[in-house]
Amino acid sequence: MKSKFVKFFKYLIVTLLTLLVIFMLSHQIVYWQQKPNSREGTIGANAMVVSAHPLASEIGNKILKQGGNAYDAAIAVNFALAVVYQQAGNIGGGGFMVHRQTDGSVGSIDFREKAPIAAHQDMYLDEKGDVISGLSQEGHLAVGVPGTVDGMVQIHSKFATMNWADLVAPAIDLAEKGFKLTSQGAVSLNSSYGSFEDNNHKEITVLAQDKWEEGNHITFPDLANTLKLISINGREGFYGGSVADKIVAEMIKSDGLITHEDLNRYSAVWREAIETSYKGHKVITMPLPSSGGVSLVQLLKGAEQIDMAQWDHNSTSHIHYMTELQRRAYADRAEWLGDPDFVEVDVARLTSPDYIQNRNSDIDAQNKTDSQDIKPGAVSTIESFETTHFSIVDKWRNAVSITTTLNGMFGSKVVVDGAGFFLNNEMDDFSVKAGVANQFGLVGNEKNSIQPEKRMLSSMSPTILEKDGELFMVVGSPGGSTIITVVYQSISNVIDYGMSMQEAVDAKKTHSQWLPDVVVLEKGSTNLSTLGNLISKGHIPIPWPMFPFGLGRVNAILVKDDGSLEGAADDRAEDNFAAGH
Ligand code: GLY
Repeated sequence: MKSKFVKFFKYLIVTLLTLLVIFMLSHQIVYWQQKPNSREGTIGANAMVVSAHPLASEIGNKILKQGGNAYDAAIAVNFALAVVYQQAGNIGGGGFMVHRQTDGSVGSIDFREKAPIAAHQDMYLDEKGDVISGLSQEGHLAVGVPGTVDGMVQIHSKFATMNWADLVAPAIDLAEKGFKLTSQGAVSLNSSYGSFEDNNHKEITVLAQDKWEEGNHITFPDLANTLKLISINGREGFYGGSVADKIVAEMIKSDGLITHEDLNRYSAVWREAIETSYKGHKVITMPLPSSGGVSLVQLLKGAEQIDMAQWDHNSTSHIHYMTELQRRAYADRAEWLGDPDFVEVDVARLTSPDYIQNRNSDIDAQNKTDSQDIKPGAVSTIESFETTHFSIVDKWRNAVSITTTLNGMFGSKVVVDGAGFFLNNEMDDFSVKAGVANQFGLVGNEKNSIQPEKRMLSSMSPTILEKDGELFMVVGSPGGSTIITVVYQSISNVIDYGMSMQEAVDAKKTHSQWLPDVVVLEKGSTNLSTLGNLISKGHIPIPWPMFPFGLGRVNAILVKDDGSLEGAADDRAEDNFAAGH
């Protein structure tokens, strides 16, 4: 008996060590924990914009200097990103805004895309019921009915103070007169060249050169004309008239589903924001159809109940408990969450402290819990994390947190012929078949199945925090399924670990999402001893597969004790930029 045990024990040690060595060698990653350098972000006494592109942040800052409020700036930044950051900034996609007004009232608007009326549950399956690879991810059939323009129009009519045309004008200018590509912008265009060719019938601007370089001057005349129509006609400039005709014509060319009726019927929805608390801070976040808010509440409440701050940052216990919380939150996500206009979701229960305590009560300090019911093949490759987030605070302390997306990088890769903008591939955020993973490796079930006019589940988590009744933080990130865990860590890094906003953003992150049953480690998040300890608890650590890109691209703002604003742009994406005054 004893010798059997010793043999087993030896076998275990050898297996673990072999795994560790293979793991390190195959990914050429030296595990050496990096603590964030002590630093602050950009400081502004009055107002701050942090977005994915310097030109967009500067435009927002200029609007704020001219006396516009955070909502005015948000509209201008959104349209500017649709020109200078087309991999995710958009008019052909959708997103969410969480906002807090100077008087403390809060809310959210959902301008998420919808499934076309002609969509149906099995539209991406072959005769045998198997998923047709790529159909929900690229090309015309992947496109959901865009929501961004209606979202911006509705934000404008409710909260803005400046003329609509004045807020669209900077974007028109950029598209018409052009701008210089950044290195990141050139790399993104070059990496998608083949897909642009495959999915477009005609020569489009982004195909004008087969290799783009930093500093190339690029103009978008068709997009400028579309923006002019939006500027003059508002909602009708996009959902009606010649732009709508061009969208529908584009669909007809390649068996896409969006019709004039889809466009006419689209409407963004104002929704009550989810509110919770974390260690005395009020947290205001996005409700369904984003899973972000529900899951973030589950993580924060679970962390509060455990008191995460008792462990050193990114120590074994810290990562172990975070991973265990994440595992449960993502399992709930897959099981219960979907568009609340179509399916019953008991959000109150899923976010109640009692439920969360009970849900996490089987976390074992020593051993990882196995993710149950792992289905073979549930691990998909991770294609892209090209959503974008921007945070804005104005001098009155109105705060806007917007995450918006085409889903994958440049969405479906389809440009509307003659209208010059990319269409999303958001249909892939539905569960195209129960139990089969999407591009982010996320699985789902009936709750997130495709139905006509239903909104696909999202992970986008635009969030705002208050401390002592005053604005404290505005935060969010792109990153598909990783958004929720990255936003959670950014909040916790400030509140639990006393980091500045910039340090919290810089700090190396980890991620787990139930399926696949692994914990993803960003380079520099652990040292060898922590890695060994995690393995001995049963975890399967893997390096962040998008290396050399980092995990998350958080753009956040913190109100400091002296009332000034710290804008933290995540330099994991080199164009992220904070502009304030
Ligand atoms: N398309 C990414 C998300 O909505 O979460």
